[in-house]
Amino acid sequence: MSARPVVWITRRLSDATLERARRDYDVILDEADTPSDGEAIVAMSERVDAIVPCHSEAFDAATVARLHDRLKIVANHSVGTDHCDLSALHTRGIVVTNTPGVLNDATAEIAMLLLLGAARRASEGDRLVRSGRWDSWSPAFMVGTQVSGARLGILGMGGVGQVVARRARGFDMQVHYHNRRRLPEEREQGAIWHDSVESLFGVSEFLSLNAPAVPDTVEILNAASIEWLPERAIVINTARGALVDESALHAALASGRLAAAGLDCFVDEPGGNAALAGLDNVFLLPHVGSATRATRDAMGSCALDNLDAFFAGRDVPNRVDAG
Ligand code: DGY
Repeated sequence: MSARPVVWITRRLSDATLERARRDYDVILDEADTPSDGEAIVAMSERVDAIVPCHSEAFDAATVARLHDRLKIVANHSVGTDHCDLSALHTRGIVVTNTPGVLNDATAEIAMLLLLGAARRASEGDRLVRSGRWDSWSPAFMVGTQVSGARLGILGMGGVGQVVARRARGFDMQVHYHNRRRLPEEREQGAIWHDSVESLFGVSEFLSLNAPAVPDTVEILNAASIEWLPERAIVINTARGALVDESALHAALASGRLAAAGLDCFVDEPGGNAALAGLDNVFLLPHVGSATRATRDAMGSCALDNLDAFFAGRDVPNRVDAG
C-alpha cells in the first residue's frame, strides 16, 4: 500500500466530495463519468486500495471472484447495495459500506412528487399545455384522484419510508405500513402496521414502495399482488425497479385496474421501460430520488467518512453485512 491509499471514484461525485477525497487520498477519477463494467472493475482493482462506486457499477459474483487482492474496501456512494454480491465480497474479505440516512429527505420529496404527479395527472397536463394541444376546458377535463385524506400504504418503513409517512401526514393521509419488524410506537407516529404484504396492499389506495431489492422483495408487485390493491389504486416506486414485474404493472395500468403509477426506478437503467412510457397514466422520472446538491454532498461525505474510518483502523460506521 502506498503512503496514501489509492481510491478509485467511479463517477463524477460532488465538487466538495472530490475536493476532500483528493486532499486525503490519491484519487483516480473517470472524468468522462461513464459506468464501468466488470472488466474495468477487475482491471482497476490491481491499482487501488479502495473503490467508491455508485449503483451503476455491478460487483457480481463473477467480477468479485476476479478482483485483485489489493482491493480492501468498496465504499458505496449509495444506500442501495443490490449492485453488490455481498456474500461474494465478504468471502473475499472486502469490506462493503453504504450511505444510509443522508438521502431520506430527498428521496421522500421525490416520492411525494410522484404521488401527486400520478394522482393529479401532472405529466399528461404538462404535455398537453406544452404541445399547444390544450384547446378546451370542462368540469370533466383531466379529473384525477384526490390525495388529501386518502390511505397510503408504505412497503418498507426504513429511513425513507418514515419520512414519506411524515410528509404524507401533511396531506392528512392515513398511513399504513408493512415492514419485516414492527417499529416502536414512538416511531410509528400513528401509522398502522400490517403483518403481511397482502393485508397492507388491501388498504392501499396509494402504495409507496420503499423496500430494498433483496430476494424477498424482487417482483413483490406482480400480477397476483396487484389484485390485492383496491380498484384504481396508485403505485409509487422510489426504491428499485426490481421490486416490480413491469409487464404486470403495464397490463394493470393499460386496463384501468390501476389508476396511475409514479416511477423513479426501472428494471433497466438507464433507459427505463418503453411500454410504460407509452401510457398517459404514468408519471416518470430518471432515478433522481437523491439528486439534490445537499444530498450529493452528504452522500459523498458519508462515503468518505467510511473510508477514513477504515484506513484509520477505526470501527467503520456504515459497514454492510452479507445479510
Ligand atoms: C441509492 O443511494 O441507492 C440511490 O438509489 C442512488 O444510487
